[in-house]
Amino acid sequence: MTNSPFALLTPKTTEETLQAGAALAGAVASGLLQPGDIIQLKGDLGAGKSTFMRGLIRALLGAQTDVPSPTFALVHPYDTTPPLWHMDLYRLEDPEDLWELGIEEAFEEAICFIEWPEKAGTLLPEEALTLEITTQKEHREIGFFAQGAGWLARINAIKSSLGLPA
Ligand SMILES: Nc1ncnc2c1ncn2[C@@H]1O[C@H](COP(=O)(O)OP(=O)(O)OP(=O)(O)O)[C@@H](O)[C@H]1O
Ligand SMILES: [Mg+2]
Repeated sequence: MTNSPFALLTPKTTEETLQAGAALAGAVASGLLQPGDIIQLKGDLGAGKSTFMRGLIRALLGAQTDVPSPTFALVHPYDTTPPLWHMDLYRLEDPEDLWELGIEEAFEEAICFIEWPEKAGTLLPEEALTLEITTQKEHREIGFFAQGAGWLARINAIKSSLGLPA
């Protein structure tokens, strides 16, 4: 992404990355995020995308909830309110294979969090909230980027869910 992020979190430990995910869970619980929303999680292998999702899902479903990386199944639906899907497209060989995963239904009925969205080629809608996680010397950086009117309108509300000044 060329623009600067509208919000930036800098977790120094795994625990702080889990807490960052838990902070965005507030936006799910409050109804700020809605079925049909797509949140792209970008970043190198091991950046912390699944860790962030573990914190988010556990904040909604309980600290003991098992949140595996959906590396092999590619998709993992959760019975949150509203429902959410955690996807990891790293092993998607052909973007067309996406349709076999039931994602059309997910795009209507669930909030979709997608690791490795690059693997879907042009098949994902452009309107998305994108989180870019990078590894710095002493911490990780989680930058938030909004694409599309629906997301731009929610920037301040998302910042406040994250505990950042609007
Ligand atoms: N802020 C942090 N500081 C140090 N280590 C961290 C931090 N956040 C997460 N980690 C660790 O980094 C690793 C991240 O793994 P994780 O599976 O979350 O990455 P990922 O981005 O989902 O990778 P993949 O692309 O393979 O799915 C884990 O071992 C986690 O404990
Ligand atoms: Mg992962």
